[in-house]
Amino acid sequence: MKIFFKYNIIRKQEVKVQMIDKQIVFEELLKLKNNSYSPYSNFKVACLINLKNGKVVKGVNVENASYPAGICGERTALSQVYTLGYKKEDIEFLSLYTDSEDMGSPCGVCRQVISELVDWETPIFIYSKKGFQIEMNIKELLPYAFEPKQLIK
Ligand code: THU
Repeated sequence: MKIFFKYNIIRKQEVKVQMIDKQIVFEELLKLKNNSYSPYSNFKVACLINLKNGKVVKGVNVENASYPAGICGERTALSQVYTLGYKKEDIEFLSLYTDSEDMGSPCGVCRQVISELVDWETPIFIYSKKGFQIEMNIKELLPYAFEPKQLIK
């Protein structure tokens, strides 16, 4: 049985209701997590970023023997979005899978990066080993984020 969940995209006063098949997204994330390079933590993370033009950008965590050189799945995916020439306004939603039993959510560094590179209302769908867990946005995940406008010029 397919389980759908609904969310509203509010763009230029126009509300578009999208139906996402969360089981299909879960299966995509499970496929993608196999590409995770995580021999040190053995903790796989996969991130899908759906763009408004229908394209999907993927990212996994990529670790290194020099531990701090590793990069999280969210930042791998977001770096690609920008490398391909897209910006925050091109992003429809993010889906994140972590190898957690229940809720696994973006780390603090990723929250900071997401807060600058993704619109604050953009849905972030969080999955764990058990499937879909929760929908959040970065405003909820990182209230009072440090923003570029706070930098003294
Ligand atoms: N990790 C992510 O990819 N994203 C997060 O938000 C949390 C942590 C990765 C980093 C490391 O490769 C592994 O998970 C264990 O911390």
